[in-house]
Amino acid sequence: MNPLDFAIALAREAGALLLERAGGPLFIERKSHRNDLVTDADRASEVLIVGAIRKNFPASTILIEESGTHPGTSDERWIVDPLDGTTNFAHGYPPFCVSIALERRGELIAGVVYAPRLQECFAAERGAGATLNGAPIGVSQVSTVADALVCTGFVPGRWERNVEGFKRLMDASQAVRRDGAAALDLAYVAAGRFEAFWEFDLRPWDIAAGALIVREAGGTVTAIDGTPLDLNSGSTLATNAAIHAEMVALLQH
Ligand code: IPD
Ligand code: CA
Ligand code: CA
Repeated sequence: MNPLDFAIALAREAGALLLERAGGPLFIERKSHRNDLVTDADRASEVLIVGAIRKNFPASTILIEESGTHPGTSDERWIVDPLDGTTNFAHGYPPFCVSIALERRGELIAGVVYAPRLQECFAAERGAGATLNGAPIGVSQVSTVADALVCTGFVPGRWERNVEGFKRLMDASQAVRRDGAAALDLAYVAAGRFEAFWEFDLRPWDIAAGALIVREAGGTVTAIDGTPLDLNSGSTLATNAAIHAEMVALLQH
């Protein structure tokens, strides 16, 4: 089975499950920090996704937010956030998504970000471009931060780290958004809605699928200081490429 087609179908299935759960009572728990939530819907989505990957790609390793690493024997690794934007989800705020990426020998080869409430499915395969609900997408052509709509995020418990950068971009850009689902924020850069997105301290499952989608849409993704992206370090800057150097310069302090 083509891994991208599989991932798209699986993200849609998990998204449908999230919408079903959103209609009923939610069991909400706090994780390491007061503002770091997990619900029974996160866990149900995760069980569905692990089961489907295990059935169809039994040799792959799986790295998934709530249960960590499920070791495999092949050189492929699925990197999954079963629900990105849990706080949005718990409040009925529409930007939340399922994020599924596939890495082979350490290289991202397929990625899907599906926002079920918005019915938008962003996808990319290495070398084949990026799509939204099957239609090709590309990054925006805006060439200066002064004309840019940018987005950021704040990790629970360590948000102060981003205050200075937030202030600088409030001054330098047209506006700054904070939408609360990193994978979807990245997909919006790919679709040309945001010219840039940055956040410190993300986790691999927040970044993997969205990073590939941005690159395949013509954008650039690095760490915030402009060095190569490292999924484990979590420092992430995605742009339409044209404003990348300017964003790196603005975010150094
Ligand atoms: C969070 C979201 C949020 C970002 C946090 C993430 P979760 O993921 O992506 O936008 O600011 O850093 O942890 O917990 O909703 O999967
Ligand atoms: Ca997440
Ligand atoms: Ca999550």
